[in-house]
Amino acid sequence: MIAISTASQKGGVGKTTLCINLAYSLARRGWRVLLVDTDPQGGVGLSLAKSAKSREGFYEFLLHRGELPHLVITTRLPELEVMPAGLSDASASAVTMGHEAPGRIADLLRAAELRGVDCVLFDTAAGLMGMTETIVKACDYVVLPQQAEPLAIRSVPHMLETLARYRAEGAGVKVAGILLTMVMREHEMSLRVARELREMLPAHLMFQQSIPRLPSFLDASALGVPVALTKRNPPPEALIFDQIAAELEQRTGLAKQREKHDEHASLLD
Ligand SMILES: Nc1ncnc2c1ncn2[C@@H]1O[C@H](COP(=O)(O)OP(=O)(O)O)[C@@H](O)[C@H]1O
Ligand SMILES: [Mg+2]
Repeated sequence: MIAISTASQKGGVGKTTLCINLAYSLARRGWRVLLVDTDPQGGVGLSLAKSAKSREGFYEFLLHRGELPHLVITTRLPELEVMPAGLSDASASAVTMGHEAPGRIADLLRAAELRGVDCVLFDTAAGLMGMTETIVKACDYVVLPQQAEPLAIRSVPHMLETLARYRAEGAGVKVAGILLTMVMREHEMSLRVARELREMLPAHLMFQQSIPRLPSFLDASALGVPVALTKRNPPPEALIFDQIAAELEQRTGLAKQREKHDEHASLLD
């Protein structure tokens, strides 16, 4: 099993959108996925199930108020389960201060592994501190969604330095990749930032695929579904997350777990 977290310095860069759509794509590709919402604002839960805001979840787990099987919501895809954030903001921030969180997150990962989960995906609150720092440090990999805007040229190196510090402090977390989000393909500024980042960073650090800014993502958020479920025939942008999932499988070694058993398929019986 692997644990992957998202992280971004700013809010509103498309982390939650990425998590919901990526979790869906990974599950469609046959991985057992547990999507854990750790943002006290409850973005995932709120988006996927209107009632999820009031559901117990991650923060109850941290406080020993419930165990994994009772705190996850099953979905229409048997491979995809969701753990909402739970608790209200005030009580959640009290937990953030506790020193017990790292041990409890380790418990969560062990419980997920026992459940047969292949991939735990954490959606996080913005900023690399507090609970998000604790979670990132507990993960095998972190994905860094980065909005294609001029500020990125400064904020990406800063994020990478912070992650290097975590590793120096003993965390095993590796960067799965930087993923450009909200790319405006018709805007010179947006394209320039994308180009400059690719020039500035080692090639392997950037996902090949990027996420365009499109109204369909807003529609999907409003409906509370992955963009693939907004139409009977998923729009082209739904395939972007299949591509990201495929890249992530390679980048994290998830693909290797299966290769051992893989035989190439034949088109004809
Ligand atoms: N690629 C995109 N194109 C257009 N709108 C997007 C895109 N990704 C996210 N959004 C919208 O932007 C807002 C913030 O996205 P969200 O995923 O909640 O960001 P974060 O979790 O980083 O705060 C939401 O209203 C969402 O629907
Ligand atoms: Mg969010």
